[in-house]
Amino acid sequence: MNNIEKTLSIIKPDAVERNLENEIKEMFKINGFNILKEKKVQIEKSEAEKFYKIHQTKPFYNDLCEYLSSGPIVAMVLEKENAILANRDLMGATNPGNAKEGTIRKKYGISIDKNSVHGSDSIENAKIEIDFFFKD
Ligand code: CMP
Repeated sequence: MNNIEKTLSIIKPDAVERNLENEIKEMFKINGFNILKEKKVQIEKSEAEKFYKIHQTKPFYNDLCEYLSSGPIVAMVLEKENAILANRDLMGATNPGNAKEGTIRKKYGISIDKNSVHGSDSIENAKIEIDFFFKD
């Protein structure tokens, strides 16, 4: 049975800064994702705090929000069969040092903070995160 899902992907400031936007989009396309929507934006720290609310009790929360708002990012709605899991597989482990060969974070990630991409981790969060960037 097919289970087409949508997920939110963000190309983070470290990757946009290194002009990796097109290479990363190409990796999504080669792996069967349709990019339904995309926009390049720079968000305020207060907006990053809202986006990453789920991590508000974590020790890295402040740095994470500083970082996401530090430069332009590309937000995208990706669609594919089982897109949420498929995107997490393609991104690889949060820490690029632990990411498998062939994943985006292995190829482009610099550190656990500068790990080049974000992807929704559940159906519920995908809806919330897509609305965050694309609700009009
Ligand atoms: P992301 O998938 O965008 O979700 C939250 C981000 O917090 C994560 O990627 C990392 O870039 C960042 N982060 C920083 N430190 C940690 C940590 N110790 N564990 C998990 N995520 C971390």
